[in-house]
Amino acid sequence: MVVKFHDAPFDDATQVKLEIFRRYLQVWISIFMRLGVKQICIYDFFAGPGYDSEGNPGSPVMIVEEVKKACVHLKQNLIENNIYMVFNDVDKYYYSKLQENISSKTCSKKCCRVEFLNLSFEKALELKLPEIRNNKTANLIILDQFGVKHITPDIVRILADCEKTDILFFISSSFIRRFYSQPEIKKYFNVDENFLHKTSPKTIHRDICGYYKDQLKDIGYNMVPFSIKKGSNVYGVIFGSSHILGLDRFIDLCWNIDPQGGEANYNIDNTISYDENVLPSFEDGKISLFQKQLLEFIQSDKPDNHMLYKYCLLCGIAPRIMCPQLKQLQKEKEITVWDINKNQPARKNSFYLSYDNYRNKQPVVRYYRGETHGHK
Ligand SMILES: C[S@@+](CC[C@H](N)C(=O)[O-])C[C@H]1O[C@@H](n2cnc3c(N)ncnc32)[C@H](O)[C@@H]1O
Repeated sequence: MVVKFHDAPFDDATQVKLEIFRRYLQVWISIFMRLGVKQICIYDFFAGPGYDSEGNPGSPVMIVEEVKKACVHLKQNLIENNIYMVFNDVDKYYYSKLQENISSKTCSKKCCRVEFLNLSFEKALELKLPEIRNNKTANLIILDQFGVKHITPDIVRILADCEKTDILFFISSSFIRRFYSQPEIKKYFNVDENFLHKTSPKTIHRDICGYYKDQLKDIGYNMVPFSIKKGSNVYGVIFGSSHILGLDRFIDLCWNIDPQGGEANYNIDNTISYDENVLPSFEDGKISLFQKQLLEFIQSDKPDNHMLYKYCLLCGIAPRIMCPQLKQLQKEKEITVWDINKNQPARKNSFYLSYDNYRNKQPVVRYYRGETHGHK
């Protein structure tokens, strides 16, 4: 007898995935509620029944719980249907369980509306795409597929073209590594042996995210991976957003979950060493490797705080993580932080690397390698 996914307790890897979904939901909801966007929409296209066999909540229950928490703070005069949630599952039994489990938990105030669908993902997306494309709404799309085949680069491209739309999807990346040469996989992912030579079983999810980015490089879409290991397999979540604040919030939560490297629930880079004959050491950790890269960037580009903030995020580093490093580099006179307006060294330990600083039109400091003299 085949045991279905929700007939067993969620395993640790699934719990990590769900924790990422929940944490991003929390920040995403709070951002758009604060901004007062007319309607915020959450689509869970592979919703499942709501719980595992032990009553642990799955993504749809998390969504209604987080929305309900946020609704408590809503003012009375908010427009009807301010928060719209769509839950879909192709399985008839899961669909009926989903309705039962969600309807009893949903916020009953006018601000919320829930819709259930019992369609294949492709059909559900076709039905909902005109709504998602409506640029008056902010959308969060959760795509918790089994395996790999539904969320192709073409599907991501369609969603990336929608304004104010963030996506979170799951993909079994090891599967692509193992079966890349089979026509069934080739149809969706055109990776070849060259690609596989450059990757390793441990970094496959990061590399698959790189593959998506490469496929979408003409539109420069921001995508960030979080790798999850279960036994010898590596799966993961990929986040996509065209907005820098989404990128900031997602990367920040990844660093909270993985304070060593911000991208995995295991030691993804423990083989990194500059010299193949030397065993890797703590010094070769991601933060210290990035520090070297950052110094080169400061030397070559003399970035202002906007540029440095964006550079950190595009490298998958939460800017706050680099502040202690920058403080040390400033102390050792390896870098100078220059106040652009006052044309003098900036106050010590002021790096201006937050989204709020980025949002301000004008950068306030510029970073230089070495000591101050000559920076005019
Ligand atoms: C990994 S589970 C989702 C788990 C869910 N997000 C949770 O947290 O409990 C994948 C779900 O997708 C559904 N599914 C599988 N193929 C589908 C398809 N083509 N379209 C829509 N749903 C599908 C399955 O019935 C299953 O409930």
